[in-house]
Amino acid sequence: MKLQPLNIGDLTFQPYISASEIREKVEEMGQQIRERHAHSNPLFLVILNGAFIFAADLVRACQVPCEITFTRLSSYEGLSSTGQVETLIELNEDIKGRPIIIVEDIIDTGKTLSHFLPILQKSAPSSIEIAAFLVKREAMEYPLKIDYWGYEIPNDFVIGYGLDFDEKGRELPAIYQKVD
Ligand code: IMP
Ligand code: MG
Repeated sequence: MKLQPLNIGDLTFQPYISASEIREKVEEMGQQIRERHAHSNPLFLVILNGAFIFAADLVRACQVPCEITFTRLSSYEGLSSTGQVETLIELNEDIKGRPIIIVEDIIDTGKTLSHFLPILQKSAPSSIEIAAFLVKREAMEYPLKIDYWGYEIPNDFVIGYGLDFDEKGRELPAIYQKVD
């Protein structure tokens, strides 16, 4: 079935990455993580809210013994980054000496994670890696080493597969791109 464009508020979004393309890509990412972490018992640190759907698929695609926890950071309102980063849910786990894999839906300017990494490093994990489903390389202002990524996309606003526009569109199984 061919997906149709959809409207949220007065914006129009067109189909961009299909659910089956997403599935294939997440499988590949899972395999890459499995190659490095088959015996390391990594702790997946999922950045809420956007990454919850990707994370659910990724941890199953990895098929490695692991643990999963969540934190919530916020720097976004509407269509653009506010420049402010807040930790809205604090991490309770003892992460000392553990390999951490941060799971993000999308990396845009990189501000959210570059603010968060030093906070995380204070708790002395053995390693920190980043897995992001989408990366907007052109938008990146804060250099970040991204260890696993699904797609590099242009600097366009996207929704679906966990990503929202003002909390709308997270439930869509495919990813849609804003039409100008
Ligand atoms: P950064 O700090 O600029 O890298 O922004 C990262 C966060 O902004 C992501 O975790 C998303 O929640 C949000 N974000 C960035 N680009 C988009 C987009 O195109 N659609 C929906 N959310 C986005
Ligand atoms: Mg997010």
